[in-house]
Amino acid sequence: MSRKLFTAMGAAAALSLAACGGEGAGSGSSGGGGASAPEDLSIGVSMPTQTSERWIADGNSVKEQLEAEGYEVKLQFANDDIPTQSQQVDQMITQGVNALIIAAIDGTALSTQLQAAADADIPVISYDRLIRDSENVNFYVSFDNFKVGVAQGNALLTGLGIANDDAPDGTATGPFNIELFAGSLDDNNAFFFFEGAMSVLQPKIDDGTLVVKSGQTDIEQVATLRWQQETAQKRMEDLLTGSYADGTKVNGVLSPYDGLSRGIITALQNAGYGPTTEGGANPMPIVTGQDAEIASVKLIADGVQSSTIFKDTRLLAEQAVVAAKAFLEGNEPEANNTEDYDNGVKIIPSYLLPVETVFADDIEPVLIESEYWTAEEVEAGQAAD
Ligand code: BGC
Repeated sequence: MSRKLFTAMGAAAALSLAACGGEGAGSGSSGGGGASAPEDLSIGVSMPTQTSERWIADGNSVKEQLEAEGYEVKLQFANDDIPTQSQQVDQMITQGVNALIIAAIDGTALSTQLQAAADADIPVISYDRLIRDSENVNFYVSFDNFKVGVAQGNALLTGLGIANDDAPDGTATGPFNIELFAGSLDDNNAFFFFEGAMSVLQPKIDDGTLVVKSGQTDIEQVATLRWQQETAQKRMEDLLTGSYADGTKVNGVLSPYDGLSRGIITALQNAGYGPTTEGGANPMPIVTGQDAEIASVKLIADGVQSSTIFKDTRLLAEQAVVAAKAFLEGNEPEANNTEDYDNGVKIIPSYLLPVETVFADDIEPVLIESEYWTAEEVEAGQAAD
């Protein structure tokens, strides 16, 4: 799917919301009532961490777009520490924010804060990660997380040359040795990603095309607490010195996030794999990813990492802003999914954005042409600012 379509969808959603939201403007239904002009309203934005550049980009994008609408913004990052995030959200509520946009570290840990928000009439938008076990979540903006997983599974098959929905021409039959990694079990998305990927990979495991030599195929066995790169590197090292000690080679690794992919690649390189996927007795296995982080985009350009999944954080931020604005104007934001995201208490109306798989050939048309990254940044492997 092209970037143009992404943008068109975002614009269409924004327009339709603007159309149905006009009447309510100025009603100021939340945050204690009364206030109406954006200049009189503030929005708390709570992001999980600055260790991953996607969350920095998300935070900055949401802030910029809200400020462009005239709102005051309180943006905080929580260092992947649950008490820090709880405290930051508490503080935003005490400071009298009129709406909250939260990407949770632990999707179940904010119930007390959300009750306080509800008591103060503050609408809560769950950002990218679903906040669970609370009825006080008003809306969810995210990407189609199951499809992210499907795309990762297909990207692994494509990289290995096995026919799949995205690349029906593959002729490889295997068997290929693969290992599986999943994200953090306290992040609802981790389950969607893994289930999506396994919906594609399990049939190939069942028919013998793919072999998980470690035997570790349950999400609990392959999860990575807090999505930590070092944790993934350590597990890959353990797999190499354990299941692959007999000299058998790993051919592919399902990794759900670029940070984990880099840890996995480091472990593989330290064990003598790579550096390129071409030739050599010990080629780098096909490693997937997610988020199009700049360090990984460079690794893809260099033929070290095979693929990533691009999720345009600018468009997600736009949807969060559209939703916040709708609430603050006394309206309900428009959802495009009212079935899939049950947070344990109720189904949260959601707005899901599409995603795009990026191999080396896609860097230019998908990431550079959309100005997500510049050619210079890809070359350098780091963001310019
Ligand atoms: C996000 C992913 C990200 C991961 C680690 C997930 O909740 O959806 O985009 O890779 O967290 O930060």
